[in-house]
Amino acid sequence: METVYIGLAGFGTVGSGLAKILESNSDWIERRLGRQIAIRKVLVRDLNKVRAASPGSEASFTADPAELIDDPDVSIVVELMGGVEAPRRLITAALNAGKHVVTANKHLLAEHGTELFALAAEKGLGLFYEASVAGGIPTIATFREALAGDRISEVVGILNGTANYILSEMTVNGLEFNTALSQAQDLGYAEADPTLDIEGHDTAHKLVVLIRLAFGLDYPLTELPVRGITGVTPQDITYAREFGYRIKLIAEARQVNGRIEAGVFPALVRYTYLLARVGGNYNAIRLTGNAVGPVMLHGQGAGDLPTGSAVLSDIMALIRGPEHPDNTGFRNAPMARAQILPPDQAVCMH
Ligand code: NDP
Ligand code: HSE
Repeated sequence: METVYIGLAGFGTVGSGLAKILESNSDWIERRLGRQIAIRKVLVRDLNKVRAASPGSEASFTADPAELIDDPDVSIVVELMGGVEAPRRLITAALNAGKHVVTANKHLLAEHGTELFALAAEKGLGLFYEASVAGGIPTIATFREALAGDRISEVVGILNGTANYILSEMTVNGLEFNTALSQAQDLGYAEADPTLDIEGHDTAHKLVVLIRLAFGLDYPLTELPVRGITGVTPQDITYAREFGYRIKLIAEARQVNGRIEAGVFPALVRYTYLLARVGGNYNAIRLTGNAVGPVMLHGQGAGDLPTGSAVLSDIMALIRGPEHPDNTGFRNAPMARAQILPPDQAVCMH
């Protein structure tokens, strides 16, 4: 049976999660694809670090990005390093070398997606990013494929597992903010720089990616109003509960007369709402299409296996080839800039 080799950049939470699924589900993957998937090279920073997981018997570690790019056996580069400049260089080099790319890096896509999607389209290569929004929830595929013909009017959601874990633990178990944050870090949910999670910026990165998909418009990240959860106190949570609300970090974007009203902020959500019941590292997205009506997506938004599952789905879609319906992403047309409407920041969702 033919083997497709991938070059894996990053072997932390998500990279090792991907390796675990490739091993545990190998029979099923082979049955569905008619091919095997193996990791050939693993790019890391520290070659001496002791690793809890194995990338498989055909893999070797390197600290030199050129070893992934120049390896003729590697047809797909999977970027799971985080950060912006190093992955931007790596992905650009991979596309220029004729390799497809899979990434979970919403920060990079929110800042440089336009340039990278254009390069992928110019080269006729895939730049896939299912894991970049809402971890294991099939979000990108839902917007891009399942609801491809719907006009989306509104997207509202909880897009950060770390912030949701902190708010849930403060609400349900009375944990201190910092204790809950360090638990989220231990569980592998947080970004390497957790201020991205708690200050709302990671949610903003994901919302910009979703706006591209939902409305076909480019919303400049620097213009998105963003407020995180560092100002939420235990008293806020107690009072909210007394009045029948939960505090959630909400991302929302809607079309209003051709303009996009969008923002990220903590909000009071009535306890009877589904969004109020999203606990732990879970995320949820409620979208409204003009044909399908309201749709709710719910699942784990962070963590090794859920995110690895989303990365694997992209790798398998690429291996199935350009004729596969998931691969419309090969044609990433340039997008117009969104006309921006300042959000009417709802403090309550009744
Ligand atoms: P980790 O910090 O756990 O792992 C990062 C890995 O990348 C490490 O193996 C590290 O090497 C390597 N690395 C980082 N920078 C470099 C560099 N400049 N050169 C070479 N290797 C480098 O990150 P995560 O796995 O948590 O996240 C990876 C990506 O996935 C990020 O973009 C993140 O936003 C995204 N993501 C994460 C989710 C999660 O639940 N954690 C969910 C969805 C998306 P070393 O091990 O030697 O330090
Ligand atoms: N740090 C992110 C979160 C990882 O907590 O949601 C998933 O994108």
